[in-house]
Amino acid sequence: MLKVENLHVSVEDREILKGVDLEINPGEFHVIMGPNGSGKSTLALTMAGHPKYHVTNGRIIFEDENVVSMGPDERAKKGILLAFQVPPEVEGVKIIEFLQQVLMELKGFDPVEAYDLIVKKARGLWFKEEDLHRYVNVGFSGGERKRLEILQALLIEPKVLILDEPDSGVDVDSLSIISRKIDELHKKGTAILLITHYGRILEHLDKEALRVHVMKEGRIVKTGDSNLVERIEREGFGRIFEEVGA
Ligand SMILES: Nc1ncnc2c1ncn2[C@@H]1O[C@H](COP(=O)(O)OP(=O)(O)OP(=O)(O)O)[C@@H](O)[C@H]1O
Ligand SMILES: [Mg+2]
Repeated sequence: MLKVENLHVSVEDREILKGVDLEINPGEFHVIMGPNGSGKSTLALTMAGHPKYHVTNGRIIFEDENVVSMGPDERAKKGILLAFQVPPEVEGVKIIEFLQQVLMELKGFDPVEAYDLIVKKARGLWFKEEDLHRYVNVGFSGGERKRLEILQALLIEPKVLILDEPDSGVDVDSLSIISRKIDELHKKGTAILLITHYGRILEHLDKEALRVHVMKEGRIVKTGDSNLVERIEREGFGRIFEEVGA
């Protein structure tokens, strides 16, 4: 469904991704780990079409089409959604209005239908109706922002969901609910690409289904199963990098 081929990406003339290959098929669950600065968010943002990240070589094929020249909106319409590592504040745009708009545009909902669904799903992520009348992320805590990203994903049910550290800065109970909601989405058929530093987010997931990739300096240097996560947590990256000569 989604194929990243020999992807090279530069930001402000500095090459950050140096040939990434990755294939995500329907129903799959991929995890990306790697040291700080190895290019995980760059890969996520490039896949979602962030204008700052320039593809200098390679392709991103989604359902047989190269999406590299498409903007983020077009990619979202096609079914690629990114939940940000640092969800941005949007002054002047209310959460409820934004999400209603999204459901109307992507799913053909009418505004009332959308409103009811948003409130219902928001309650499942511990938001009150009145929270939804605040501006997008403005004044929301780090953990609340992560839950808002998950809310958006639950409403859109994208074909591919890229989650950039949905577990960073969230408390244990929030982590648990976020993990369950990711599992719910995956079971409904969304393919997942999850970037994380820790195995804890995976606790409610089917470990058998995971494909784990390790990045170093703009490349995927190792791919394996969920045992790789445990190994990284136990011994860090050093030995793994040594083994593969990275
Ligand atoms: N907009 C930018 N301008 C300059 N450098 C950038 C920009 N975006 C990313 N980089 C650089 O690219 C490298 C990879 O960054 P990236 O955010 O992709 O890392 P990461 O693997 O997500 O790290 P972390 O685990 O800390 O989130 C870093 O050295 C970073 O400083
Ligand atoms: Mg990052």
